Amino acid sequence: MKINSLSPIGIFDSGIGGLIIAKEIKIQMPNEYFIYFGDTINMPYGDKSKNFIIDHSMKIVSFLYKKKCKALVIACNSIASNALDVIKEKFHKKILIFNVIDPVIKNNIFLSSKRIGIIATPATIRSNFYIEKIKKYYHHLDIIKISTSLLAPIIEKGDNIEKINNVIKYYLNFLQLKSIDRLLLACTHYLFFKQEIENFFHGKVHLIDIQKIVVQEIKKQLNKKKLLCIYPNYNKIPIFYTSSYIPSFFEKKVRTLFGKNVFIKTHSFNWI
Ligand code: DGL
Repeated sequence: MKINSLSPIGIFDSGIGGLIIAKEIKIQMPNEYFIYFGDTINMPYGDKSKNFIIDHSMKIVSFLYKKKCKALVIACNSIASNALDVIKEKFHKKILIFNVIDPVIKNNIFLSSKRIGIIATPATIRSNFYIEKIKKYYHHLDIIKISTSLLAPIIEKGDNIEKINNVIKYYLNFLQLKSIDRLLLACTHYLFFKQEIENFFHGKVHLIDIQKIVVQEIKKQLNKKKLLCIYPNYNKIPIFYTSSYIPSFFEKKVRTLFGKNVFIKTHSFNWI
């Protein structure tokens, strides 16, 4: 399939979480055109089985591949930690594949830490993907991980900030007792609440700017492969797909982050 620097970047998540990564792509690589897919009908992925996550993400990857994307960004920790190997096995010769976990771990960010916290969905925690990777690069680290199952669904729903803050506090109270020095928000949905989480710890726990690190790596690799778009792609309007209907909060978030000049569409798969 013929791709070049003008081809789109395909980004996907279970819902709104990956929009944070898409926004950072717009900031660091303003000429890039992208196609986003949020599998809103199946959200949350965090409470699904590994097989479910593999089957559904493979369908989305095939869809984005057929749209002639030059690169694929798995903007979801639950997908990356459960399906990355399978996606790579089938697609690594066809398309550049990025995820939100590897660039962060390889960034030396934990070298000066002693004890870190990881909050993530049950599917990510259960996979052990983070622990295996972190232990490989940072032998000295003490890791406290918690599965924060309630958080992503209420963020996706756009529940009121008070309710979300209460749920955040409920989970973080435990971590506060454990004297962590860094916290990894290992679910892209949580990145919307980085400030609130930082406030909770009164600046005493360092939070990592995941989207910045991930997009720096994407930019570096696209540049290396001569696939970085260096000319403004004026006539290319970003497209945001959801599965089935368009949830109003998804649409609101897209318009807040990317303005009016976007297409928001639906695409339904035959999931069986
Ligand atoms: N945004 C996804 C992640 O990074 C998870 C949300 C979900 O449970 O679907 O893991």
